Amino acid sequence: MAESAARVICASSALVERGLAVRFTVTDANGQQRPALAVRYMGRVYAYLNACQHIPVELDLQDGNVFDLSGHYPVCSMHGALYEPNSGRCVGGPCRGRKLTALPVHEADDLIWLDTDAV
Ligand code: FES
Repeated sequence: MAESAARVICASSALVERGLAVRFTVTDANGQQRPALAVRYMGRVYAYLNACQHIPVELDLQDGNVFDLSGHYPVCSMHGALYEPNSGRCVGGPCRGRKLTALPVHEADDLIWLDTDAV
């Protein structure tokens, strides 16, 4: 797995509390681009590969629209798996107990940074 430097995903202002996720891509060990997303929850930023743990489809039916109606759980648009936004753990649905693949991110200088582009 090749390491690469941190890069900017988006401006901090683009990531609204429990709002639309920001979509981006990361490079996997085979050099393939993989879909990913970042969300803001309880003021903090979390990022995951955008691949459900039931079947590896992207969670959002419409780009970035991943939170359920309560605004507390990213939900898979295919069969309704609910994920904790701060851990990626599935807490309801067909893949209960499994976890989204977390990506290392941080927020600094009014920007959201992906700490490494390799997964
Ligand atoms: S594909 Fe996500 S819950 Fe089935």
